[in-house]
Amino acid sequence: MKKVLVLNGPNLNLLGTREPAVYGSQTLADVEQMCRDEGARLSLAIDFRQSNHEGQLIDWIHEAGRECAAGTMLGVVFNAGALTHTSIALHDAIKGANVPVIELHISNVHAREPFRHHSWLSPVAKAVIAGFGVHGYPLAIAGLAKIAAAK
Ligand code: DQA
Repeated sequence: MKKVLVLNGPNLNLLGTREPAVYGSQTLADVEQMCRDEGARLSLAIDFRQSNHEGQLIDWIHEAGRECAAGTMLGVVFNAGALTHTSIALHDAIKGANVPVIELHISNVHAREPFRHHSWLSPVAKAVIAGFGVHGYPLAIAGLAKIAAAK
């Protein structure tokens, strides 16, 4: 069974209690369950991770690149949190590891503060999903499966 890595960056461990008006009341554990349900539906194994540390996220992107090259992984669904707007290192990691990434945001970042309008990840992402709330996660997994099937 092929794998999809669902990667979550800084502060996403606080989902459920963090700004519920923006991010909703479901927890990261709820999101993980939604991803596992979608994985089961599509016969994909879900590797679900969260870190508040940029270097850790970079290491996991590199690991995903190796797994994609080996043919055991389809790609990564990545909510990089605020690092989306600041991290050239994550941009370089995605490019360097040659890994298909679906950039995901729970909120519609383009309808929020101007500092959230720029993404360092979008130029190296296969696709971007924003504004669907946590429902974006299963949508992104399904999208990755579609892209892989079309290859
Ligand atoms: C976010 C949007 C980012 O701007 C923010 O810093 C986050 C979450 C989202 O899922 O909507 O931490 O990526």
